[in-house]
Amino acid sequence: MQAARSLLGLLLCAASLARADMGLLKQHCGTCHSAEQNTEQAPSFKAISERYKSESEAAQARLAEVIAQGSAGRWGKLAMPPTPRVTALEARKLARWVLDF
Ligand code: HEC
Repeated sequence: MQAARSLLGLLLCAASLARADMGLLKQHCGTCHSAEQNTEQAPSFKAISERYKSESEAAQARLAEVIAQGSAGRWGKLAMPPTPRVTALEARKLARWVLDF
C-alpha cells in the first residue's frame, strides 16, 4: 500500500511537471503568435489551423517537425526559429494544439 501510494505520488508529480512545461512552451509560442490575429511576427494559430487541418494526421507530424526545427518561406518574410529543448512528444502535442484552433 505504502509503495503504491508513493508510486501514485511520483506519477502525479511527473504529470504536473509535464503540464508546467507545456504551459511554458505555449507562453513562448505566444511571444510571436496570437490565437486569432496575424501579428507582425507570425501568422495566427487560427490561420495555420485553417490551412492545414484537412490534412490532419500528416499535418500534425509535419508541424511537429516545424515546431522543433523552425520554418521559413511558407507565410511571409520572417522565419520561425527552432524551439529549444522541445521533445518529440511535446512537439506533437503543440502541433495538435495549433491544429485545434
Ligand atoms: C520568434 C517568433 C516565433 C516563435 C517564438 C514561434 N513561432 Fe511559430 N512561426 C513564426 C513565423 C515567423 C512563422 C512563419 C514561418 C514561415 O513563413 O514558414 C511561424 C510558423 C508556425 C507554424 C506554421 C509552419 C508552417 O509550416 O506553415 C506553426 C505550426 C507554428 N509556427 C507553431 C509554433 C509553436 C507551437 C510555437 C511555440 C513552440 C511557435 N510557433 C513559436 C514565428 C514564431
